[in-house]
Amino acid sequence: MKVIHLSVECFPVAKVGGLADVVGALPKYQRKLGIDASVVMPWYDRKFTQENKFDQIASGSFYQGSEQLHYEIWKEASDQLGFPLYLIRIPGKLDREEVYCYPDEADQWLSFQHAFLHWLKAEQIIPDLINCHDHHVGLVPFLLKYSHDFQQLSQVKTLFTVHNGQYQGWMNWSKGILLPSFDTWRWGVLDWDGLINPMAAAVKCCDAFSTVSEGYLKELYVDANGLQALFRAESQKGYGIVNGIDTEYWNPLLDKLIHTQYDSTSVKKGKYENKKALCQQYKLDPSLPLMSFIGRFAIEKGADLLAEIIDQLLGKVKAKMSIFILGSGDQDIQAALQQMMEKYPQQFAVYFGYNESLAHQVYAATDLLLMPSRVEPCGLNQLYALQYGTIPVVRGIGGLKDTVIDMEEPNGYGIVFPEASVVDASEGAVRALEIVAQADLLSEIRDKEMNLDFSWHKSAQKYLDLYTKLLN
Ligand code: GLC
Repeated sequence: MKVIHLSVECFPVAKVGGLADVVGALPKYQRKLGIDASVVMPWYDRKFTQENKFDQIASGSFYQGSEQLHYEIWKEASDQLGFPLYLIRIPGKLDREEVYCYPDEADQWLSFQHAFLHWLKAEQIIPDLINCHDHHVGLVPFLLKYSHDFQQLSQVKTLFTVHNGQYQGWMNWSKGILLPSFDTWRWGVLDWDGLINPMAAAVKCCDAFSTVSEGYLKELYVDANGLQALFRAESQKGYGIVNGIDTEYWNPLLDKLIHTQYDSTSVKKGKYENKKALCQQYKLDPSLPLMSFIGRFAIEKGADLLAEIIDQLLGKVKAKMSIFILGSGDQDIQAALQQMMEKYPQQFAVYFGYNESLAHQVYAATDLLLMPSRVEPCGLNQLYALQYGTIPVVRGIGGLKDTVIDMEEPNGYGIVFPEASVVDASEGAVRALEIVAQADLLSEIRDKEMNLDFSWHKSAQKYLDLYTKLLN
């Protein structure tokens, strides 16, 4: 079975969020199940592309509106990722450093999708299925159905995976002329509320869509940033498959990015050594329990609540703990955290930016991981935390609710709080601190956490079952 994953992020080439981790791991585990899985993504001018060897295997050109675009297909030469990786380079469009936030982003993703289909057609590459990830590649299922240019590919099945339904890729109708030619009377398929909506088009045209947890699938039927009625109408082809994690890469016993390696039998000492190393660097007291947050400073992630949560815990409650934050994003959130650092210099530290190796060290060092998300389709950080014997303190939503069982429940190993609010998150943190204070209970929980199985094995099989169903 030949499957192509189409995505604009893939770890380690270009990572902004969890999408990259999924696309960088799932195909590897699918190949172990016998699927011929590969990844196609845009070319980025960054570390991975500069430092690794690529072979150009094809090229071509097409018109995007009146502009003629030339594309090149580059294949990663060493096969070091565990799956074949292809990059599409288009000078002037897909040859930049950052993944997002360029003013012509819509044109970039249009050119990516067009070049991809153009290449498949020109080289007569006919996969059994294309797994499209998020709205950036949401027009592919539409074009396969309704574009005259790609009729040879019309039998190819599509699975559209929703990692985040908040972003839908809205485009003004003036962009319509940039698309490959399609049955014009089908324009309504592209439209949602007067805009071209690639996510809506994908949900309408795909053979099936999936979300990255079952809980999130149900939530989309109620609130999907305007698309809930559409998701409900198409629900007969909706599936929820929870993400896994790459346990070859996220493994405290093998992790070269952390100070001291450990497993469930040496977790107490291992975590303490890692905490000492981190605390020394950031001038925090290692004898106190440590709670961390890792991620983008976005409203969805509840990052706007962080400063107040810190103030509540360290100021009002006077909790004997330290807090560490690693992330970047919204400037106001950053400024509020900066203020907290000045107010609580001995108990709070922050690293502004994206830093993959520091993230590993934080998972290993921290006792508690806070996730006060408003929306969380799956969430991977809580899974990394569990793998490193760190207690997740999460808001009960989406994938967080599906993967973390509260201490009050039978077999519980985490803290789940009801609302994304300062009060609920702080209460959750206080409950978690009570566990950390009881040495026996803490080691029992860490042991339980580190023996949970959130590897990709199970979920990769679920994708295979779904692909098989679509192909029969
Ligand atoms: C998005 C979601 C996150 C999910 C990730 C990978 O980043 O916000 O919850 O884990 O995609 O699917």
